Amino acid sequence: MIASNRGPVSFTLSEDGALTMRRGGGGLVSGLSEVARDSELLWVCAALSDGDRSAVRLAPGGRLDGAGYDTGPLRMLDIAPAVFHRAYNAVANSTLWFVSHLLYNTPFTPHFDGRFQREWESYQDYNGAFALALAEEAGHEARVMIQDYHLTLAPAMLRVERPDLRIAHFSHTPWAPPDYFSVLPDEVGVEILEGLLGADHAGFLTERWADAFMDCCEAFLGARVDRAARTVRYQDRVTHVGVHALGVDGPALLARAAEPDVESHLQVIKEQVGDRRLIVRIDRTELSKNIVRGMAAYREFLAEHPEWHGKVVHLAFAYPSRHDLPEYREYTAAVQRCAQEIEDEYGTDDWDPLILNMNDDYPRSLAAYRLADVLLVNPIRDGMNLVAKEGPILSQRCALVLSREAGAAAELGADALLVNPFDVSGTATALHDALVMPEEERVNRASRLRAAATALPPQRWFADQLDALA
Ligand code: G6P
Repeated sequence: MIASNRGPVSFTLSEDGALTMRRGGGGLVSGLSEVARDSELLWVCAALSDGDRSAVRLAPGGRLDGAGYDTGPLRMLDIAPAVFHRAYNAVANSTLWFVSHLLYNTPFTPHFDGRFQREWESYQDYNGAFALALAEEAGHEARVMIQDYHLTLAPAMLRVERPDLRIAHFSHTPWAPPDYFSVLPDEVGVEILEGLLGADHAGFLTERWADAFMDCCEAFLGARVDRAARTVRYQDRVTHVGVHALGVDGPALLARAAEPDVESHLQVIKEQVGDRRLIVRIDRTELSKNIVRGMAAYREFLAEHPEWHGKVVHLAFAYPSRHDLPEYREYTAAVQRCAQEIEDEYGTDDWDPLILNMNDDYPRSLAAYRLADVLLVNPIRDGMNLVAKEGPILSQRCALVLSREAGAAAELGADALLVNPFDVSGTATALHDALVMPEEERVNRASRLRAAATALPPQRWFADQLDALA
């Protein structure tokens, strides 16, 4: 069984009450969907929207597959909207995401007061609803794979209900070091760590995040950590800590990128860019993605290198994300402002130095990868970052400028141009180095990046974790 907040499908409700089903979005979902398609595993997820709720209410026991939808075994949980909103927006996205990506502006945030107490209770209830549903659905000694920061409490809650199960948790995000994790109220931090230690296996994308988790277990729980064996012993139980890097299914991605919808975007981009060099970035408009500093670096590069004026275009795709949160709306506006300033300062009648596109379009993203001379991936911090892996698979000669704070740097660092994401001037220099990199070197580096990016496709990533639970 799999449990995650976002499920493999979502529903929209039209004015006449008709429901339309679509595939769910985001990296976690597309990776897991690949895996789920080939197996009989049951997926438990939350209803995220009114459309989802309408669909669930018509499905006996919340089982969408039982209501005639072609979803594979799927149970969607109809959690009360107010509880869901506090658990997802206030705790998962505004607190746990900020802690793991080090995003707080600490003179002002976080600010844990009475209101947070209520939000935290909703997060407990939301995790409890998952634990209950999993306990109901799981066969004897079933293996349950619980995903991400939305569900940190569910492993321990499930263990209480069903000690026979084998439980894994996987964190797709970074893990904060103890000095930062300690911003959480003490009892909340302890509950999160104890929640995860309810699992038999706690998985992370890189050694760095796994080490940070073990450091927190030691610092806040006094747990006995064996770093060589990667085990945490706490209250007479042992949790194994695993490192499972997630890569890309190369052949599947190449096949998708050769389809006609991608080809037609390719022609459009070629017309826009002409024979200029192309710097590409593709992100959700997410605070941790560092889009504003990336643009500032491009601006500094243009200021330092007038010889490139009219000869390069920066194509920035920044897709909508989490617009319920004011910080995200403000960030989106900052990205737009920054792009406009560059256009105003450097644009001419026949040259757009920066093209910003904010409407999500997967085939267009694939076309951009194929044409990229340089791929800029400069997050403040990132669990893995699959953009950094997809680019070199689709472009034979793309140079990768990569933040050393992305999990992917552990595997791709040797052949990328690594940058400190806060160092705008350093990033500007890296952009220039990437543009002038000799052809042979860029082809050689891209081919090694491609090999590293495809080494652990989702199927393998999943199978390794199942094996770890055996
Ligand atoms: C990113 C993270 C995942 C996370 C997802 C949630 O993709 O890497 O770990 O599950 O965001 O995004 P959502 O749109 O569901 O809030």
